[in-house]
Amino acid sequence: MSGTEVLSHSPEETVELGRQLAQRLQPPVLVLLSGDLGSGKTTITKGIVSGLGAAREEDVTSPTFTLVHVFRSQARENARIYHVDLYRVDDSHGLESLALEDALAEPGIVIIEWAERFTFRSDWPEVTIRLEHVDAETRRITISPAEILGP
Ligand SMILES: Nc1ncnc2c1ncn2[C@@H]1O[C@H](COP(=O)(O)OP(=O)(O)OP(=O)(O)O)[C@@H](O)[C@H]1O
Ligand SMILES: [Mg+2]
Repeated sequence: MSGTEVLSHSPEETVELGRQLAQRLQPPVLVLLSGDLGSGKTTITKGIVSGLGAAREEDVTSPTFTLVHVFRSQARENARIYHVDLYRVDDSHGLESLALEDALAEPGIVIIEWAERFTFRSDWPEVTIRLEHVDAETRRITISPAEILGP
């Protein structure tokens, strides 16, 4: 997969990368996050959502049990920001119950953890972010398209 590869050496660096990315995100866009447990999907989402002025970093928490959190971005004309976690969703019925169709009904920014578990039928532009453990404090983060972080 082509993409920009970044090494993050701390949770704070990963949050900062999310904030940088947020500056380049315009609705409609799907942000597809993949990577193992604890690789930093929720951590980078804290940066994206706070970078969009949609919530404070500490108010962006894992939607593991509620499956979806919805925010609004004042920096993007009040567009809806969805933070979705598919970890506990194990079939297409479950996916429908998330009402992702509602999320995709109007241009927003839809951030999906465990995106590799499903395929999405959508004509929205996609940004994919793959997070990998290197060691306890280091993550390799690969972002596509590469230009999303470019000048
Ligand atoms: N460079 C780093 N970037 C991100 N998180 C890091 C880093 N170094 C250590 N960590 C730690 O790794 C954990 C990442 O947790 P986080 O909830 O973001 O992962 P996740 O991918 O969302 O996991 P899950 O699959 O359970 O949803 C946190 O405890 C964080 O402090
Ligand atoms: Mg998570």
